[in-house]
Amino acid sequence: MKESFDIRWLIAREQLDEARSPTLVSELLALLEQRKKDRHVYIDLGSGIGNNFVYLFPKILESVQIHQKWVLIEIDPKLAEYSLEHIQKRLSNLGFNAQTRTNTAYPGLNIEHSSRKIEIEIRNNDFMEVLPTIKQCDGIFSNAVMDLLTWNQVNYLLTYSKKHKSIFYATLNYRNTTINSTKFHHPKLSAIGALYDAHMILNHKERLGNKCCEVLKKIAHDLQLISKDGRSVWKLDPNDNPSAYMFLLKYIGNAMEDMYKKFSDIFFGYFENIEEIRGILESDSLMFEVDHCDFLAY
Ligand SMILES: C[S@@+](CC[C@H](N)C(=O)[O-])C[C@H]1O[C@@H](n2cnc3c(N)ncnc32)[C@H](O)[C@@H]1O
Repeated sequence: MKESFDIRWLIAREQLDEARSPTLVSELLALLEQRKKDRHVYIDLGSGIGNNFVYLFPKILESVQIHQKWVLIEIDPKLAEYSLEHIQKRLSNLGFNAQTRTNTAYPGLNIEHSSRKIEIEIRNNDFMEVLPTIKQCDGIFSNAVMDLLTWNQVNYLLTYSKKHKSIFYATLNYRNTTINSTKFHHPKLSAIGALYDAHMILNHKERLGNKCCEVLKKIAHDLQLISKDGRSVWKLDPNDNPSAYMFLLKYIGNAMEDMYKKFSDIFFGYFENIEEIRGILESDSLMFEVDHCDFLAY
């Protein structure tokens, strides 16, 4: 496993990710409610420390009055392990008592709520390995994952969802970053945004990066699925979520250093040198708008 997400970053973005499109969440809940069964099985792909589960679970519990099994699949062992503790803490704040599962094949939690049983299983593995072993799937969810994937992976996921007559719901899929400032010239800020987008696939050529929203729509269309999309936008300035702001600034700064090393010539049209970019990023005057798409298909 090459890439590892920082737990502090995933905690910092929990609040930002509440920007999920409210229309699509309501549509998801309405669709799940129509599926009359004793128990639903939901899968969360690239579950990280469990943020998407913590966001969706209380909403689904309120709308769908049946037993639930959740399979949270995360490839990074550090995140998969920490997710148990993180979910327990967040659920306890919401008034749920989640008990650690014992004598089960995989670690997880159990919740009893108004005569309903909710099982949560954590699978530390690649979702491409786990999905073929799951035979029932009512909802296949993800948050902030699609831009990291390849065309083949997304095609597999939507095909899997269709085969299981499941509902596919992927939120916070990266589109672009706009940077604003009262001090700096707009074309320079646009150039930093564009270089940051390009950096996402610099060392991962197969990745969809900011093309993922178009690709999701195209594959869903080819598979004759009904699909809908919405926007989820982060607005970040240094004051309202300082931790998330600092992380984003650091990630953009690292990306600029990398891009400068590899393509210093393309910088010349915009910047004197890398110092100029460092100066802009350290100016404390920036505001970021990070645009994403949310996507629903069935
Ligand atoms: C940006 S993080 C988002 C985490 C979480 N969904 C959230 O909303 O906070 C993307 C996650 O996808 C995981 N991931 C990427 N490819 C994966 C794969 N093939 N199988 C399982 N997890 C994967 C990464 O390890 C990472 O934890």
